[in-house]
Amino acid sequence: LLKALLEPEGYLVITARNGEEALATMGSRKVDLVLLDILMPGLDGVEVCRRLKEGTSTAFIPVVMVTALDAVSDRVRAIDAGADDFLSKPVDRQELLARTRSLLRLKFRRDRLEVAYQAMASVTHLSTSLLRMADEQQFLSRDVGTELAFSFISSEQIRKKPKALLIGQIREGTGAEGILVRDKGAFAEGEPYSIPPAAMPPIGSREKAASPMPGITEGESRAAWLHPGRLSPSAWVSDGSLLVLAVDYPGEVTDFDREALKTFFLAVSFFRSLARYAKETEDAFLYTIEALARAAEVSDELTGEHIKRVNHYSALIAEEIGLLSREVETIGYAAQMHDVGKIHVHPDILRKKGPLTAEEWEEIRKHCEAGAHILGNHPRLAVAAEIALSHHEKWDGSGYPRGLREEEIPLTGRIVALADVYDALRSRRSYKPGLSHQKAVEIILQGDGRSMPDHFDPRVLDVFRKRERDLAAIYERLPD
Ligand code: C2E
Ligand code: SIN
Ligand code: SIN
Ligand code: FE
Repeated sequence: LLKALLEPEGYLVITARNGEEALATMGSRKVDLVLLDILMPGLDGVEVCRRLKEGTSTAFIPVVMVTALDAVSDRVRAIDAGADDFLSKPVDRQELLARTRSLLRLKFRRDRLEVAYQAMASVTHLSTSLLRMADEQQFLSRDVGTELAFSFISSEQIRKKPKALLIGQIREGTGAEGILVRDKGAFAEGEPYSIPPAAMPPIGSREKAASPMPGITEGESRAAWLHPGRLSPSAWVSDGSLLVLAVDYPGEVTDFDREALKTFFLAVSFFRSLARYAKETEDAFLYTIEALARAAEVSDELTGEHIKRVNHYSALIAEEIGLLSREVETIGYAAQMHDVGKIHVHPDILRKKGPLTAEEWEEIRKHCEAGAHILGNHPRLAVAAEIALSHHEKWDGSGYPRGLREEEIPLTGRIVALADVYDALRSRRSYKPGLSHQKAVEIILQGDGRSMPDHFDPRVLDVFRKRERDLAAIYERLPD
């Protein structure tokens, strides 16, 4: 009877013959309103109502008990079980339709709250991913927009989301270029993508709701560019330079979907500026330490190219030895400062043509500790200071300034020691001519009395044996 009354009004009605069947159906279908008889074989209506109100996914579905007018004790039990409303038998059509409308209105309001809550949860989720990125210092090496799109697309906390997101830079013409991130079920995948001018949303035309944020336009449309021939619900947000386009929503785009997308857009644009500033600061840092390393050239005959080569050899050896990419990167800029301490050694000694006196040697040996002192104790320069101090220590304990041996010497120092000697051998110095690659390899691997294989960490020497050609290539690529 209820089905017959409700279907002509456009409702989709699902029926169940008893309580168990009703609960089973509720588990597999998305239901907005339950009309429940009380007297049923097996589980009675009150018990079914109680179970629905106890279930996390069904607790907020309104339940209307259909009872006989005089069954007061049933009504009391049903109220205790959480029933939302009652309909008396025999059912009056007008009353049924009025109650149905009113309870469904309530249900839809609650659903929208749920969506708003999800949008907030998604923002929290995005912030969490970003904090994790910052922790891992990937902020500089990875594109923040793409990372955010990955977390948005693969988030399990956002129930209604697009199948694909494009984070694009609007080009001089009217098209956009960027990374398209797609939901692939278990994972998300990103690829370069461009939108031709003809398929661009009408940015700047403020179609749909004008944004309260100056300079930001948003809108929705049915886009075909992801699946040619099929129009899918899509939404976009742009500030005229950055474009975020969300395509293939499972259903119409609502106000809440647009809010979530706008939040996402603001996060991307905020973190991108932050990343840009961080990058500028990082560049300034690298520039400054290079300037510091060059300052040591004034009194020595080192060249800027020597400094860069030692960086490259050291990074190459570190990588081959299996250090983490962050350590490889660190050694790749820290190595160039190994000789900054020479700034304290008198230029006459450094440029002397002949062999050194004992006093002169004593002066030269001070450059390690002087370098470590100049570099100080800032965490960003800790590896550089470690290298400056230890790059003349030798594996067999015959080095300076401390005579450390084997693993007592920091690995970074053992790596730079070989890089430094290789480059010194290849280069012309006031006290020696430049040597060929073959000659340098021979001296390092077989020794010449001054340099001996025992001076080097055997692991570093193995790497040198394996990659000596690549060191030569670096020398040739960056000649004096
Ligand atoms: P450097 O010229 O940059 O050389 C760095 C290291 O490369 C040297 O550390 C040494 O281990 C190796 N090396 C350089 N030239 C040769 C070479 O002809 N044969 C061999 N087998 N190894 C070589 P070391 O010996 O501790 O010297 C440190 C610094 O002292 C050198 O840096 C250079 O600035 C200075 N120095 C060393 N020997 C002389 C010298 O005879 N005359 C002058 N004026 N300075 C010297
Ligand atoms: C490096 O990793 O920096 C060494 C590679 C090269 O410059 O050839
Ligand atoms: C590094 O921090 O770059 C290397 C650490 C080490 O000395 O093993
Ligand atoms: Fe040195």
